Amino acid sequence: MNRMFTKSHFARHIFQHQHKLIQQLLQNQIRLCSGGSQQVKQALRLDEDDINNINIRTVAPPATPFPMTLEHAADVGEQFKYSDLSVRLAAPHQLHPKPDADDLSFGKYFTDHMLRIAYHRRLGGWQKPEITPMENLNLHPAAKVFHYAVELFEGMKAYRGVDGRIRLFRPEMNMARMNVTAHRSGLPTFDGEALIKAMCRLILIDSEWVPHTESSSLYIRPTLIGIEPTLGVASSDSALLYTILSPVGAYFKPGAGGLKLYADPKYTRSWHGGVGDRKVGSNYGPTIHVQKEALKQGCHQVLWLYGDDHELTEVGVMNVFMLYINDNGEKEMLTPPLDGLILPGITRDSIIRLCREWGEFTIKEQKFTMPWIRQLAKKGRLLEMFGAGTAAVVSPIERIAYEGEEIYVPTDAQDSPVYRRLYDTLTGIQYGKIDHPWATVID
Ligand SMILES: Cc1ncc(COP(=O)(O)O)c(C=O)c1O
Repeated sequence: MNRMFTKSHFARHIFQHQHKLIQQLLQNQIRLCSGGSQQVKQALRLDEDDINNINIRTVAPPATPFPMTLEHAADVGEQFKYSDLSVRLAAPHQLHPKPDADDLSFGKYFTDHMLRIAYHRRLGGWQKPEITPMENLNLHPAAKVFHYAVELFEGMKAYRGVDGRIRLFRPEMNMARMNVTAHRSGLPTFDGEALIKAMCRLILIDSEWVPHTESSSLYIRPTLIGIEPTLGVASSDSALLYTILSPVGAYFKPGAGGLKLYADPKYTRSWHGGVGDRKVGSNYGPTIHVQKEALKQGCHQVLWLYGDDHELTEVGVMNVFMLYINDNGEKEMLTPPLDGLILPGITRDSIIRLCREWGEFTIKEQKFTMPWIRQLAKKGRLLEMFGAGTAAVVSPIERIAYEGEEIYVPTDAQDSPVYRRLYDTLTGIQYGKIDHPWATVID
């Protein structure tokens, strides 16, 4: 061991590699000089200082407040604390083989550990967080999640940067969105910062699962479910907040061509006053049938429309953007407004802010409709359309099947398409090629 390796370096090294070290210790692959074994074993138990010292370094404060803040209701009770986190590591026989980076489809493989935090109102609120081996949940068949879809989730990613360090992208926004969704679902709100810290600890324990390639990442799925075992349609006095991790491949493959979309106004995914702007599981199940229909029609995804004028809302599980030439002959980008019909995407917010910073064309959050898109396409004024979200980053649109017609969108035929520049900038930030306050390094 290098002589410059100080005690705190040693503790950090142990902390980051504790999982591999346990395996190696158990398999006698590490031989320690006398007394050393004891030190390592003590270090593996991790004292409170180590836990409190996890360094979640944001290069600068978060760029902008997300337009979603709320106070915890008084009856939520105690919040959980990161400093109370306990860790139970998987035994060697519980470890899973890591898949090839080339073989990753979405959400097929899971890492060795999970994070869980129970909530029981009768016990005073949130309980202590724990990291455990990945295992099945044991729930009562009457749990509200099974009957009334009292469930919500988030989708985030950990990226292995070109410098080997792991980064998150604007995680505080996922926490804000998750908390407003919890509030709308009658589920308890929680301390988002404490959850980020606990998830970082989980990611560090399973850090070898963060793919060592820019074409893949580790998908993070925080989930909150109502588990009270009573059949009344009422708020759940018991809940479970858990996080699982899944290595995923790239959605977008350069040169693969753009998306072909199925736009049928007889289907809608959201309505005013509903929960289209919240990430509840019940928004997704009913879309499966329509997605199947899209595939049957030879399309990749559904373009979700709303209302008699067929306004565009979202593409599959992405926000939608359109670049066109306006009546003044200038380039302008539009994306639907946050009026309750669409999910307030973190990628969407980032794209709006980047475009405003670039200042090369106007970007507006404004409603636009299919008949208008059809007209713009006919006049040659439709330039680009793309979907945006954590899973795919940005995904170009090439065709829209609408009312028996096929509308061609020349997204990839542009000289240097804006979607491509946005993709490069966002992935540049996520993979540490561009130093930016939106990237949070986990150490
Ligand atoms: C319906 C829907 N719209 C948009 C998005 C994109 O949101 P984000 O950019 O935060 O991933 C998602 C993905 O979470 C989604 O499920």
